[in-house]
Amino acid sequence: MPKRPPPPRVARAVLAARRLLLHAADRLVPPEVALFDHTVAFGRTRLLGALAEHGVADALAGGPATAAELAGRLGLDADSLHRVLRALAVYGIVRLDRRGRFHLTAVGQPLRDDHPRSLRAWVRYLNLDSTQAAWAGVGDTVRTGEPSFPAVHGRSVWDHFAAHPEEERTFATAMRTFTELDAAAMASAYPWPEQGTVCDVAGGVGTLLAGVLRERPRVLGVLVEAKGVLAEAEAYLDAAGVRDRVTLTEGNMFERLDAKADVYVMKDILHDWDDERCLAVLGATRRAMAPGARLVLVEALQERNRVEPIASLVDVHMLTQTDGGRQRSVAELHELMRASELRPGEVRHTAGPALVEGIAV
Ligand SMILES: C[S@@+](CC[C@H](N)C(=O)[O-])C[C@H]1O[C@@H](n2cnc3c(N)ncnc32)[C@H](O)[C@@H]1O
Repeated sequence: MPKRPPPPRVARAVLAARRLLLHAADRLVPPEVALFDHTVAFGRTRLLGALAEHGVADALAGGPATAAELAGRLGLDADSLHRVLRALAVYGIVRLDRRGRFHLTAVGQPLRDDHPRSLRAWVRYLNLDSTQAAWAGVGDTVRTGEPSFPAVHGRSVWDHFAAHPEEERTFATAMRTFTELDAAAMASAYPWPEQGTVCDVAGGVGTLLAGVLRERPRVLGVLVEAKGVLAEAEAYLDAAGVRDRVTLTEGNMFERLDAKADVYVMKDILHDWDDERCLAVLGATRRAMAPGARLVLVEALQERNRVEPIASLVDVHMLTQTDGGRQRSVAELHELMRASELRPGEVRHTAGPALVEGIAV
């Protein structure tokens, strides 16, 4: 379980301060110099991808090494690796010493596979050809308004994943990591009941559900997911020590939910879909809810005219990768709730996503 997160206001202030410092750094140099750095940012993603793909950060975990030593161990080309690592030293991911050895910096550490907050799967997912090709279509999306992924690949990302299970696994691992990072904050940010049942709709392997159940030893859980994901959830929930309190239920969130619970939770689900599909998911959930039952939407909020250091970028990721998915404002989420016979309740903020409550009327 990750350690207790800082208070949301502190975390948001630190993120905002980092942004201000980065903007201030840009003003130290002529605008074209700062802009040049922004123009090559895509290369940084690709360089990180090369490291993640070949496990270079893991190889550096034991201590500094030259590119030749690393290349020997990993079966890579020494000169290319040296040049790639040297370029990443510009951004502080590694440090190059006078003896030609590379050191993994604090910022580079989460590239390791065995790091407790590893971003390796996320980096690999971002660098998939399918993800990158959809990002490359963003210019067309700006012109046509059409989502990029289906325009580029001829099918939705979900159909693509169904045909490429190895890519789906990389994506799922990345999602799980983010949920694990936020689990402690989400478990403490909401007044989860002391007893009763919490149902996680499309909850992946149950990362958030496990976080809540560990905080609430007398609460039972229901995890609604697709069949393949449930198979993985068994082992995950077992390792988390809550398997005996969770019922695994196969279900299609767009159609029908067979789960009776006091609180239903949906994390990072609505942001994948357009309003019409969101209403289908909310409708299916609402039909399972008894009057008075609560739904908690866990979403990174995006108000129309507010720049969010993380949500504004996740939002364009949704623009390029999904069929009409987006980060929404509180008002937009409330509108979807009201259209689904849910009365908006409290909104609770964390350093990451917010918990937006609806009550079945
Ligand atoms: C973006 S992931 C979010 C997972 C989890 N809520 C989290 O935040 O870690 C979306 C999840 O929706 C699930 N899913 C997609 N379509 C579904 C459907 N029709 N019925 C149930 N689950 C579905 C996927 O298997 C996947 O785990």
